[in-house]
Amino acid sequence: MSLAIETARRARNITTPNPAIGCVIVVDEKVASTAHTMPAGDLHAEAQALLKTDRDVMGGTAYVTLEPCCHHGKTPPCTEAIISAGIKRVVIAQRDPNPLVAGKGVAALQAAGIEVEEGLLANEAAQVNAGFLKRMKSGLPKVTIKAAMSMDGRTAMASGESKWITGTSARQDVQQLRARSCAIMTGIETVLADDPSMTVRLSASELGQDGFVVRQPWRVILDTNMRTPANAKIIGEDSRSIIFHADSSGEKSALESSGANCVIVDTDSGSIDLKSVLAQLAEREINEVLVEAGATLTAALVKERLVDEIVLYIAPKLMGSKARPLFDLSTIAIMDDAIQLEFIGFTQIGDDLKIRAIPKY
Ligand SMILES: NC(=O)c1ccc[n+]([C@@H]2O[C@H](COP(=O)([O-])OP(=O)(O)OC[C@H]3O[C@@H](n4cnc5c(N)ncnc54)[C@H](OP(=O)(O)O)[C@@H]3O)[C@@H](O)[C@H]2O)c1
Repeated sequence: MSLAIETARRARNITTPNPAIGCVIVVDEKVASTAHTMPAGDLHAEAQALLKTDRDVMGGTAYVTLEPCCHHGKTPPCTEAIISAGIKRVVIAQRDPNPLVAGKGVAALQAAGIEVEEGLLANEAAQVNAGFLKRMKSGLPKVTIKAAMSMDGRTAMASGESKWITGTSARQDVQQLRARSCAIMTGIETVLADDPSMTVRLSASELGQDGFVVRQPWRVILDTNMRTPANAKIIGEDSRSIIFHADSSGEKSALESSGANCVIVDTDSGSIDLKSVLAQLAEREINEVLVEAGATLTAALVKERLVDEIVLYIAPKLMGSKARPLFDLSTIAIMDDAIQLEFIGFTQIGDDLKIRAIPKY
């Protein structure tokens, strides 16, 4: 199962909106085949593993990181492929919460006389597809805030200048985060201050996905009053930008003709409803959202308890107390109101530190 999970990890950039699954087929205690899910519309891990091997797998065991599918989607059910190959035992790390599967895959295998074992390395397997699993269970994508800050916790100078806080190695690492994400989200003030492209600029081989196309994530802008310039780089030319706004007048037609998808969203609470935005992204089969925004939007997401993970790149420099903070959480006044986090990883990248944390709401 460890090998299956490691194999699944290699597919994380290429399978969305499908989960990245790994499959290892063992015959006579030897690995006969390993495979991961191919890009959406192509073979799933189990079918790919069966196709890849010319060994007779009759009587073998398949280790799969997620319950095999049992429905006809863009590809035939994996349960049918497993049954017709004569596999006798299937070990799955976890069930698939997708209502189309959710135990029906296990039932189909058992009905065909296959022994099914569940739960092996379930937590490790779940981490590979945290976004997909969250979307299936809650109707919301996984939200990760990424920010670069100085050692004194500053993310931009008072003027808005923020290039560059961290070094090239850390910025290359951000490219890996982008490549894994289905959407990059930002606020209008970052668009106006930086005119960012928010695209993946590494090649397939630099991303470790040789042979597969580099997929560009959606680019999402929260812009209540449609202040995004029609020539903003983030709009791009690939019709993969979405502007959530509350105003049907102004620059909308210019923005739409420049290729942006403009979506009106609820502002009953006084600002764009962030949960509604995320739910709409989940409806578009977006599993993982990477937020690259300033202190205003990141704080709003934290306050609404919509953040699953925070990835910080910390540069060994001091930007001074007039510079802007990481989160605009100025309403926290007493220690009891502090938002508790848990560190889940740290590493040095070039001259900078990368720290990952999850909020303990
Ligand atoms: N160091 C880093 O990692 C990093 C990353 C990104 C940006 N930055 C820097 O951050 C600075 C901009 O930060 P910022 O805090 O001013 O802007 P921001 O967080 O990027 O954008 C905030 C704006 O988004 C809009 N918005 C729409 N719906 C919202 C909602 N529900 N909650 C919150 N905001 C919502 C609001 O404008 P409307 O009301 O007009 O819609 C709001 O003023 C720039 O200088 C940029 O360089 C740094």
